[in-house]
This record gives sequence, C-alpha cells and structure tokens, in this order.
Amino acid sequence: MIALKSTNSKFTFYKIVFLSALLAISFHPLTAEVSAKCSEPVGQEAAKTKMNAFIDQLINSMTLEEKIGQLNQVGGSMADTGPINPVSAQGQEMKNGGVGAVLNIWGVDVVRNYQRFAVENSRLHIPLMFGLDVIHGMKTIFPIPLAQAASWNMTAIEKAERLAAVEATATGVNWVFAPMVDIARDPRWGRIAEGGGEDTYLSSQIAYARVKGFQGDDLSKNNTVAACAKHYVGYGAAIAGRDYNTVDMSLQLLHDVYLPPFKSAVDAGVATIMSAFNTLNGVPASGNSYLIRQVLKNEFGFYGFVDSDAGAILELMAHGYAADRADAGRLAINAGVDMDMGTGIYAGELAGLIKNGSVSEKTLDDAVRRILTVKYKLGLFDDPYRYCDKKKEKKDLLTAEHRTAAKDLARQSIVLLKNDQHILPISKNIRKIAVIGPLVDAKNDMLGCWSFTGDKKDAVSILDGIKSAVSPKTAVLYAKGCDVGSTSTGQFDDALKIAAEADLVVMAIGESGDMTGEAHSRADISIPGNQEELVRRIQATGKPLVILLANGRPLTIPWLAGNVSTLVETWFLGSEAGHAIADVLFGDYNPSGKLPVSFPVSVGQIPLYYSECSTGRPLAEDPGSIFRSRYIDSPNDALFPFGYGLSYTTFQYSNLKLSKPELTTDQTLEVSVDITNTGSRQGEEVAQLYIRDLCASVCQPVKVLKRFEKIALNPSETKTVTFRLQQEDLKFHNAEMKWVAEPGDFMIYVGGNSKEVLQASFKLL
Ligand code: BGC
Repeated sequence: MIALKSTNSKFTFYKIVFLSALLAISFHPLTAEVSAKCSEPVGQEAAKTKMNAFIDQLINSMTLEEKIGQLNQVGGSMADTGPINPVSAQGQEMKNGGVGAVLNIWGVDVVRNYQRFAVENSRLHIPLMFGLDVIHGMKTIFPIPLAQAASWNMTAIEKAERLAAVEATATGVNWVFAPMVDIARDPRWGRIAEGGGEDTYLSSQIAYARVKGFQGDDLSKNNTVAACAKHYVGYGAAIAGRDYNTVDMSLQLLHDVYLPPFKSAVDAGVATIMSAFNTLNGVPASGNSYLIRQVLKNEFGFYGFVDSDAGAILELMAHGYAADRADAGRLAINAGVDMDMGTGIYAGELAGLIKNGSVSEKTLDDAVRRILTVKYKLGLFDDPYRYCDKKKEKKDLLTAEHRTAAKDLARQSIVLLKNDQHILPISKNIRKIAVIGPLVDAKNDMLGCWSFTGDKKDAVSILDGIKSAVSPKTAVLYAKGCDVGSTSTGQFDDALKIAAEADLVVMAIGESGDMTGEAHSRADISIPGNQEELVRRIQATGKPLVILLANGRPLTIPWLAGNVSTLVETWFLGSEAGHAIADVLFGDYNPSGKLPVSFPVSVGQIPLYYSECSTGRPLAEDPGSIFRSRYIDSPNDALFPFGYGLSYTTFQYSNLKLSKPELTTDQTLEVSVDITNTGSRQGEEVAQLYIRDLCASVCQPVKVLKRFEKIALNPSETKTVTFRLQQEDLKFHNAEMKWVAEPGDFMIYVGGNSKEVLQASFKLL
C-alpha cells in the first residue's frame, strides 16, 4: 500500500480503516510489491506504474454504485461544521460511496468534517475533492482576470495564482474552477471580466501561466490545487453577448481562435476541464463527443477529467438535445463528461443506462479512472486531510507578502488611456484635491465579480489609497456625487462645491463590481446612470480633472475619450486597488498596462476585435468611397485598440530588421527592433509582434499577435528586442482542417499596440 503520514490520531484511525478495507477487499501480490517499495525514491515511470496499479486495484474493488458515486459532484453546505446528519439524503449518499466531489464549501473545519464523514463512513473510504471558484484570489483578492491580462506579465500572473492556491489550500480547498480561458470578443458578455480578453495568443500564454501557478510542479504538495480550465468551449462567443446563448462558428475559427487556450492549459498539465453551457454548431458543449472525446481527449491528449458546468447535463433537455434525464446522462457521459456537477443525473440514471447497454462499463471505468487519478495526484489517498491544516489557515491568508504581490499586479494592470495635458502624475504636495464619484469609497466594488471568499473590509478604497499617498499637508475632500446607476442629480451640488475649492479633481466612475460576471450581460455598455453628466458639470468648473474608470468590461466612452484630457482604466483591482491606483496617480509607479481587448466606439460595432479578416472592400483602400465595408454613422476602428496603453514616458520603435527575407520550413526567423525611451522617466513597454499571411487557401486575419515582450527602459536607453518565429507560428487550419503553413508572402508588424506599428515582409518558401 502507499505510504501514509500520520498527522493526528483521527487520521491514524482513517489510515487503518482505509488500509484494512482495501486490503481485505482486494489484496493481491502487486499491492504488496508496491507497498514494499513505497518509501524508496522512484523515477517518474515507476511512480506512474505504482499509481496505475493502485487505481486498477481500487477500481476492481468497486461496485457499480461506488463507481458512479465518483462521478457525482454535490453542493456542500457551509453550515455543516458538525457531524453531517447520517440519515440526511446527502449523508446517506456519502455513506454509500455515492459522492466523488463537493463544491462551494471552504474553511478547514467544514471541509475536514465532510472529508471525515466520507472516508470514515463509506466502504472504500475514498476521499472527496473540494472545488471552489477561486477566480482571482481567495482572501487576498487580485485584479479581475481581464485586468491581470492588461499587465502582459506572465510571471506576475503565475505568481498571483500560486498565492491564490496557497490561500485556497489553507482553507481546505483542493480544486479551483479556474482559469477561465474563454476568448471573449463581445463586451456585452459579463463574463469577459473572468478571462484574458480577445486574443488567442495572449490568452494562451495566460492560460499556461495560470495553470502552472495553481498546480505548481507537484499536485500533491499541500499548497497546490487542481486547476480547471473552463468553459470548454466557445462559451465567450454567445450570440449578442447574452450569457448562455447559442454559439455558431466555423471549425477554423473554433480551432484557430477558441481552442488554443485550452490546448495551452492541457500542455501546462491542467488536471480538469469544465464543459460549457452553450451549444456549439447545434450540439451542446456538455454533450459534444467531437469536442470532448475527439479533440480534447484524443487530439490534445488530455488525461485529466472533464467536469460539467453546474447543471449543464440537465440543461441538455432545455436545449432540446436530450429527451429526458436518462437521455441527458447517456449523451453527456458518452460525449466524455466524466463528472456531473450538481444535477444528480449520473447518480440517478447511470446504473440503468449501463444495464440497458446505452453506456458501456468501459466508459464508466474510464471516467472513474480519470477522477481517481486526479485524487491520487493530489495526494488524497496518502492523506485525505492534506489540505486541512488549521495552522496554515491562521497564517497563510492575506499575508503581507500576498498583499504586496496583489498590489504589484494591480499596478501593472492599470492602463493609461489619455494624459494629453500631462496632469498625471500629480504632485503629492498638492494643496487640495477633490475626490468625487460613486466608486471612490467603494471597497466592495474594488473586489469585482467572483470575489465572494474575499472581504470588503480588507480592500483598500481609492479614497483610502489617495489619503495614504499624499503629504500630510494635502487636504483630501470627498463627495460621492451620484450612485452608479442612478439618474438623480441630488448629490451633484456637494461634488461641485468641493471641486470649486480644490486645485485638482480625481473622479472614479464606471460600473459597480457586480455588473460583470456570470449572468450579467449588458445590452448598453455605456457608463451607467448620471455619471457622465456629473463629469460634464465638474469639467465645467475648469479644474484639472483626472477620470478613473472602474469596470469589468470595455465600455463605450466616446464622449469621455473626446472631451476629457486624462483617462485611466483601473478595472477592478482587488484588495490593493486603492494603493495601486494612488501609486499611479502620484507617480510612484509609471503605468505600463496595455488593453487585452478593444474598446468599441459604440455597441453597434460589436463584436469588434483587431484580428479581423479583410473584406473584399477594405475601407483603408478608399476611405472616401461609399461602397466600402463601413458604417454610415460610425468609424470602423476601435476607440482604443487592442494592445494600447500609454506611459508617463514615451517609447520610439526603430530599425525593424528580419534576419532573412525568406524562410524555409526548418529555419527560425529573427525579428529585431530597437526601442528607445524618449521621455524623462524610467518605464516599461510591451513590444508586440503581429503577422499577416497575405494570401492563403483560407483567408487569414489582417493581424495576429504572435509574440510580445515586456521590457524596462531608463530615460534615453535603447534596447533591441529580438523575436523568433518558426513555421509553426504561421500555421492555420485549412479547408480540410489540416494544420498547415502555406508558402507565400507574410507581413510582420511590430509596435506598442495593434495599430501603430512598423512593418516588414518575408516569404515562406
Ligand atoms: C459557472 C462556472 C462555475 C460553476 C461553479 C457555474 O454557474 O458557469 O464558471 O465554476 O458555476 O460555481
């Protein structure tokens, strides 16, 4: 048997029952052999053999009901810190080995109680997994994922998830329903806040970093968690940005744009994947054998398990895809959904489906094996209470180190959109500053969506951040001015009064923290209520004015962009929001964020993304002509393009060079560019490289991001950045769905955003 470490007497009891039960049921020589070797250092292959032998043996000893139980994920109750009522339906189910995982509980006492009940009362004593939505931090809340993406800093993003895992595991959680890696090109969709934005390459890099951060290099450590890449797949392309809506797309778009972040998560070793709610080309993702069995498990080589999204198996009926519960269970498991989140359909229907031959026992065993393997890798068979350490719960949450990392990432997530009059940075010795707006003193909003494990009292508001940054002589005046969604002007006068007294006004406006996230799509993505009207009135005072935007999605802000001189995108930055924003306002940090998503001028342009294909009538060829692909009442371009963001210094790109004019299939093309800091402050810049395949058998986008690098430059310093491209980077899915690079001419674009670029060309031979 496997080596077991004892941490307390109750655990010793568990060890004994687990061991004796398993040995009594299914002892055979292999187990003895594995047991004899358990304390020896073993290579990876040997460890895998040992794991497989353990799991084989366990599966052989399971009844049909116990196997099905592993596939059943149930909602837990935070109230259950005492013994779970053994006669309750859930208690009975756990006793019968009928539960494999629990969701939505955390806290060492609660988790330990569930775990103890399951392992001590069920016949085979198989530990549970505990899954939770840890979307951007557990207690220390980091910026929302869309904001994190604006940092373009994979090291900082990985670190954020590392620390989120440290905190999650300190509360008993061993599985997180993150990262969300859905590409989102429609800002009406509220869940755009949870992902990496519109671009496939950037999102894929982020997916990799986030999985590595959560899972570390060894899942069995007591501070690493199983990650769950979601929502597989296409969920972000819901028609009209309405959550849960239908998705229809070409196979090329699916494979070239929406699937790569999932592939990247698989390459990073993600332990689980969540199947999505939406249909894709007519077949619901959670009953889609092509997507799950063929692409994910066979082509991508995903060996973890697939968990359905909450209730998604039941929803196969509402989609009009499954006739009844049994049909839904049959379709989901045959499609490759290994675990059922919350519907009880597998628990209720699988036995019958296996008996009548609609589902094979081999299919069931494969699902059980995948789930047990993740449990094994988490170290749960070694110690089911591995993640239940009261000492860690006391000391590992909201530490100074975690707050510093949250602040660091928050600063890097801020995007300076406009600073026309160089009002920023502000002197800390300013005499009087008026801080106005509904998001100024709004700790809860700073945490953003999916932050229910955080506590608003631990968040730093913008007001507190400003107060703690300025000199003791500076007077900070505050007025709310209006509420986020209200049309009342009742509080305007207070705001106008303090603006009149002050030397400078900072306003924080935008969305409330709960206007994005699941089921929070908006049809109108302008600034809600009377907030812009308040800006107009304050601006009329003539006082220097800085506008801070707080929001979880791109907003339509053409009036602000055209009329205010100073505009800063601050998203929802988490626990350290106020400090990070103050650092940017007063120049302790020079902003370096770049938009991971295009900001449209109007809702009418949506979906809007830089990586579009050319029409037969591109506007740029003849901007004055009527019969071009255009609007009669709006520009085509984004208000602020993908990749855009300013600094307190300026950067100049020059000397774009390619190492060769032609590339053969096995060569590397080096693309170098000089970047000079032409301003007077130290700063960081994200250099971006895009390509265009000028002529291909399937039309390719006008620009596709292929590389980026974030560099720091002192004033007057020049650095040469060299990017390397290979044939693999030029590939796409052709009409036969083959992954090919076609010979021909390519453009290279390099710059500080997707619009302002230097260009060169080469030929692929
Ligand atoms: C969401 C998932 C989430 C799950 C569990 C669902 O409604 O779509 O993203 O992980 O609930 O809370």
